[in-house]
Amino acid sequence: MPNEENEGTNNFVTEEMRRRISRSTWPMTIVVVLLGIGVFLYVTMGKYDHTSQGQFVGPGKCKECHKEQYASWKKTRMANSFHVLRAGEKVQEKRIAGLDPDKDYTQDETCLPCHTTGYGLVGGFVSIEKTPDMAGVTCEACHGHGGAYVNTVMDPKNPTFKTSAARNAGLNYPPTENVCRECHNARSPFVGRDYKFYFNERIKLGTHEHYHLNYEHGK
Ligand code: HEC
Ligand code: HEC
Ligand code: HEC
Ligand code: HEC
Repeated sequence: MPNEENEGTNNFVTEEMRRRISRSTWPMTIVVVLLGIGVFLYVTMGKYDHTSQGQFVGPGKCKECHKEQYASWKKTRMANSFHVLRAGEKVQEKRIAGLDPDKDYTQDETCLPCHTTGYGLVGGFVSIEKTPDMAGVTCEACHGHGGAYVNTVMDPKNPTFKTSAARNAGLNYPPTENVCRECHNARSPFVGRDYKFYFNERIKLGTHEHYHLNYEHGK
């Protein structure tokens, strides 16, 4: 009899312990598995979810061979679109959009994807201190990141390279309406739900001045 009782208690204890163990380990296991998936997605998507593989090289690199486009681009509103995130800038416009004009939005991750280049992607914008070149809408926001086409296909030693070959390495040329719509859409707090982006008119307003290329590069 005492044996049976002991057994009973033992059984009870083991059962309770098992429940406790499973209660405490299951959530942990789930957390660990989810973390694993998260890290995997972060690592793979950071590298491959953009138009091309490879990294951003920054406008300073493009400038080495495209001085005229660089100088013209530098004066555009888009090139300087990081600045408007600072406190005290565009006060009236921010008030109308329901934002606080005295707030500093330069680290606000809801604004950065459209007011910087490559935010959250390999070689893209991190912060104004760490990656000042990637602030604003830079060359690669429209032309695709250069890591895989600059100095490979697009090479002064091979100045008659084919656009199609550069495109295969990630060049957006000519940039399509879809590229603009990544930022020019109703998620911007400055435009209403009914925002329309008229590509043909915008493109005439100018991205930068266009200069004659020396070579034909095909379609
Ligand atoms: C080492 C020099 C070099 C660098 C750096 C460079 N390019 Fe080029 N790029 C060229 C040459 C050469 C051409 C062809 C020029 C010509 O035909 O006159 C060209 C052409 C282009 C064209 C036209 C392509 C076509 O098929 O017609 C675009 C767009 C372009 N570059 C964008 C960029 C961007 C954006 C960057 C920076 C991410 C960049 N380039 C960096 C050398 C360079
Ligand atoms: C989905 C992309 C997107 C997001 C997110 C976004 N913006 Fe913009 N923002 C734009 C675009 C595009 C324009 C230019 C609108 C136009 O001319 O059509 C703009 C314009 C502005 C302007 C200039 C307004 C003017 O009339 O001169 C300010 C200031 C601004 N944004 C601040 C912010 C702030 C602050 C945030 C975050 C709270 C933010 N934006 C988030 C895309 C975005
Ligand atoms: C990475 C995001 C992004 C991309 C991509 C982008 N834009 Fe913009 N664009 C902006 C922002 C932000 C502003 C507002 C800048 C400001 O007022 O400070 C803007 C402003 C402009 C303006 C100035 C408006 C004016 O009244 O002067 C024009 C024109 C424009 N964009 C055209 C284009 C075109 C055409 C494309 C595609 C080829 C394009 N944009 C791609 C974010 C973007
Ligand atoms: C807002 C989008 C946008 C940005 C930012 C941008 N470009 Fe362009 N780029 C274009 C468009 C649009 C064309 C013209 C395509 C066509 O001819 O249909 C173009 C054409 C070019 C060409 C071909 C020759 C010419 O002058 O038309 C070169 C080279 C070039 N861009 C380099 C650059 C460089 C370098 C930067 C940065 C300093 C830059 N682009 C920034 C949209 C952009």
